[in-house]
Amino acid sequence: MKALILSGGKGTRLRPLTYTGAKQLVPVANKPILWYGIESIVAAGITDIGIIISPETGEEVKTKTGNGEQFGAKITYILQAKPEGLAHAVKVAQDFLEDSPFIMYLGDNLIQDDLNTFLNNFKNKTLDALILLRTVSNPSAFGVAKIDEKGRVIQLIEKPKEPPSNLALVGVYFFSKTIHEAIANIKPSPRGELEITDAIQYLIEQNKSVEAQTLENWWLDTGKKDDLLEANRIILDTHLKSNIQGEIDSSSQVIGRVEIGERSKIINSTIRGPVTIGKDCYLENSFIGPYTSIADNTTLKEVDLEHSVILQGAKVIDISARIVDSLIGQRANIKESKQRPKALRFLIGDDSEIELL
Ligand code: TTP
Repeated sequence: MKALILSGGKGTRLRPLTYTGAKQLVPVANKPILWYGIESIVAAGITDIGIIISPETGEEVKTKTGNGEQFGAKITYILQAKPEGLAHAVKVAQDFLEDSPFIMYLGDNLIQDDLNTFLNNFKNKTLDALILLRTVSNPSAFGVAKIDEKGRVIQLIEKPKEPPSNLALVGVYFFSKTIHEAIANIKPSPRGELEITDAIQYLIEQNKSVEAQTLENWWLDTGKKDDLLEANRIILDTHLKSNIQGEIDSSSQVIGRVEIGERSKIINSTIRGPVTIGKDCYLENSFIGPYTSIADNTTLKEVDLEHSVILQGAKVIDISARIVDSLIGQRANIKESKQRPKALRFLIGDDSEIELL
């Protein structure tokens, strides 16, 4: 059994962050999203992992993630020259996959469940494909499955206007080698991509064994800001352990589960967990509320902040209103002046979003 993680793509929904970096490396609880997928695959006993990368962000993914040693795995990077669809990524990975059955894992997805339950089902029944489904309130935004009373998949439709069910296709799939034949027989969709839903639909039409399992626990597709914040909230809620390495002065208060990395300094501030703060950060006269992740080398002074993700090297200083539900990119600089009259002065990247509430 092998695994293929897709870490290419365009990442248009997470712009402007994805102009300068891979969306799969955006941290959730201060760890790149991609690494959760790798860890979950390794925990299921699969160590031969291929990662699809793009020409734009591939080097960054490679440099940060390495050859797999730190995860107890062997990672092979596979370049997809253009993001021509999930099934196209499988096609590009054919030399790596050979005839092996494999898990395909979308690099910006997270699921709570262990992969083992699904993997055993896939292996024991020698299925051609096992797909995972989750009920959602807005199925039109996803690939949607129609299943019969025995759980067999009858039809898969990509982003249907009139969804046949509220069961969305989760970004984790189990395939036998028959998927390659299916992909060889499909054509690009109207949006110009080779769709994995079409390839699975082909398997269904060829009477291959395609089954679905429905997830009861959470599944997050972190490709958008609010989903990313939700992933951050859930991971901090379920995984964070208190671990204080930095310095906290006597006028600061740390309440609940809080992680503070080496050499970080907390001066006259209150931190109410769950909160994770990386290494070499400087926080002064600030309140950091629940569900916040602050990456390494960040400076926060005179700031109230909660339910937010702050990336490496950002500086946020003297902000009079509370910052909430925010995603602040690497090295971003936000500062409010105490001068009168008040005015706003911006230098903001393309596709940024600012809401003054
Ligand atoms: P998506 O989130 O569906 O696509 P995208 O990355 O192009 O993002 P957006 O819709 O915001 O423009 O892709 C799911 C995962 O698969 C994601 O981790 C990127 C990866 N991917 C590839 O590796 N190759 C591809 O050709 C595509 C379409 C996606």
